Amino acid sequence: MLKIGVLVSGGGTNLQAIIDSVENGSIKNTEISVVISNNKNAYALERAEKKGIKNICISPKDFSDRAEFNRVFLEKLDSCQVDLVVLAGFLVVLPEEMTKKYENRIINIHPSLIPSFCGKGYYGLKVHEAALSRGVKVTGATVHFVDAGTDTGPILLQKAVEVKDGDTPEILQRRVMEEAEWKILPQAIDLIAQEKVSVENGRVRIAQ
Ligand code: GAR
Repeated sequence: MLKIGVLVSGGGTNLQAIIDSVENGSIKNTEISVVISNNKNAYALERAEKKGIKNICISPKDFSDRAEFNRVFLEKLDSCQVDLVVLAGFLVVLPEEMTKKYENRIINIHPSLIPSFCGKGYYGLKVHEAALSRGVKVTGATVHFVDAGTDTGPILLQKAVEVKDGDTPEILQRRVMEEAEWKILPQAIDLIAQEKVSVENGRVRIAQ
């Protein structure tokens, strides 16, 4: 059984997609052990609560400095003893200590086709605003392993989504979620749970 910890900051639609996929069996052999948010008001926490999933909030606002927050956050995560950490709309940059300790055991969903529209400052709606202002015809989403950089880790899955005339960032965001994010994030977790994923020389291999 793969024990996962899902880290969230906001609405939690990707968390919901994971919960639904575990329930309907499209993610197999997996248990959501804990949901951790950095934001007390994240609706994602309610989604977890409704399903009886352990959920906690660790907010940087409750700590005198970032180092102390990072220390407590990592301590708490360690205590949950998860096999895989899933960043599902978690908008906090992870400390290097954590990315080292959990090497190849943290995945992130990003709302573009990396290496486009990623890195520092590219998150949520800003990604879609940037894509629209560049006039791209195709965008999408990426699931990747997390390393010390921002959106630089080995790519696991990607899915393309068409940009349509008249799209606003909000409309495009919704289409990318529906057509890509809510599919490839659960799919990536299932592949990892089935032990089909390996990382070699910074590249992901998926066994058939
Ligand atoms: C998602 O679109 C996710 O791809 C994005 O935040 C949103 C969270 O939505 N993540 C990033 O931009 C990370 N760089 P959700 O809380 O409804 O899942």
